[in-house]
Amino acid sequence: MSATRSAAPASGHGDGPAQPATALRSPALTGRVRVPGDKSVSHRALIFGLFAEGITRITGLLEGEDVLNTAKACAALGARVTRRGPGDWEVEGAGANGLSTPATPLDFGNSGTGVRLMMGAVAGQDVTATFDGDASLRGRPMKRVLDPLTTMGVEIVDSAEGGRLPLTLRGSTDTKAITYETPMPSAQVKSAVLLAGLGAAGETVVIEREATRDHTERMLAHFGADVRVEPHGAHGRHITLKGRPTLVAAPVDVPADPSSAAFPLVAALIVPGSDVTLTDVMMNPLRTGLITTLLEMGASIEVVAERTEGGERVADLRVRHSRLKGVEVPPERAPAMIDEYPILAVAAAFAEGVTAMRGLSELRVKESDRLAAVADGLAACGVAHEVVGDDLLVTGAATVKGGGPVATHMDHRIAMSFLVLGLASEEGVSVDDVAFIATSFPTFMPMMRALGAVIA
Ligand code: S3P
Repeated sequence: MSATRSAAPASGHGDGPAQPATALRSPALTGRVRVPGDKSVSHRALIFGLFAEGITRITGLLEGEDVLNTAKACAALGARVTRRGPGDWEVEGAGANGLSTPATPLDFGNSGTGVRLMMGAVAGQDVTATFDGDASLRGRPMKRVLDPLTTMGVEIVDSAEGGRLPLTLRGSTDTKAITYETPMPSAQVKSAVLLAGLGAAGETVVIEREATRDHTERMLAHFGADVRVEPHGAHGRHITLKGRPTLVAAPVDVPADPSSAAFPLVAALIVPGSDVTLTDVMMNPLRTGLITTLLEMGASIEVVAERTEGGERVADLRVRHSRLKGVEVPPERAPAMIDEYPILAVAAAFAEGVTAMRGLSELRVKESDRLAAVADGLAACGVAHEVVGDDLLVTGAATVKGGGPVATHMDHRIAMSFLVLGLASEEGVSVDDVAFIATSFPTFMPMMRALGAVIA
């Protein structure tokens, strides 16, 4: 073991006692809420602020643990990061070539997005940095990012087995621009290559067979980079970034996170009598796969006051309890709803017939093996289902027994999904640990209770 590694994960609630919770059958959920800011946009706003010249003002920043870890990493790499008030942050950038070697390892906690994007960010810099995280993050594959980054000139000084965390990278001011076709649909891999491409002379090209969330491309343009996005094949994109731009600080107003809105949204659909409005939800078409699917299932979701704010489509969503029916969810929709399969499986548990979710291989490498975690959770709650290869088939019923305890495996979305299931179940649902909900949706419990949810 080298000097840069620690025996125990750098962080994680795994250290403290688990925090179990039980969601009980609840009365109708009603009210109007704004879930916290989008996690993907929040990470990127901080990272672009780090690179930019001037002061980037961010409003509506998600103050979840994942994003706070990215803020700390930006500060350790040379930005001046200041919290002015709730969700209101300022980043004074280090400038295009101004990043400095951090004094201690960068701890990204539970966050794959934070660590993978930041590896790309240091790639083109004269910086050596150690990246680490909690036990969940230490188990996740980093090779998908290291492969293109090493081709571009990054040196892996040290890593745990299989290129996992903790690992130390040495960036280079002589990064090579490459053309890279991502082997899997991953916005994190795409973003790491594009961020590395900021430091390369020439054009960095990323080709994706299936388009993934495009917040990095949008933010590159917003901060003044020369970036071109063209269609590629039936579902893909071809992205070209001109290297070594001068990024200039630009304000970012973070819309509400559709991946967080998904929890109260599905809760309203399955709890009888509910009528909930979710405000300012980001409606970027590469994030709305869940809404498309739920509408096909017969959900009552009214899209109100759709508008553009800060370069993103946003809308208020009025959601009412609905009788759902099972549908086929095609594999090509996966990138637009990749984080929403656990909560879709909960909606499917209450739908008439079978909901078949196809092509879920990427779910196996999330904060947990989400395909296995969802299947085990459904089994613990008495929901009929089957995993066939990379497909999940859920057979719904008018009543769902509930039960538990559901094992959450350090995964916020597994915890929130099964608590939502509990709200409409006969016996309630207990989950083994809700601590990780703070990584993405720190106000989940009070917000759900304010809508009428009974969570003990
Ligand atoms: C994210 C990309 C997705 C998603 C994650 C956020 C991002 O991961 O699951 O929650 O902000 O780029 P992958 O790139 O692994 O698909």
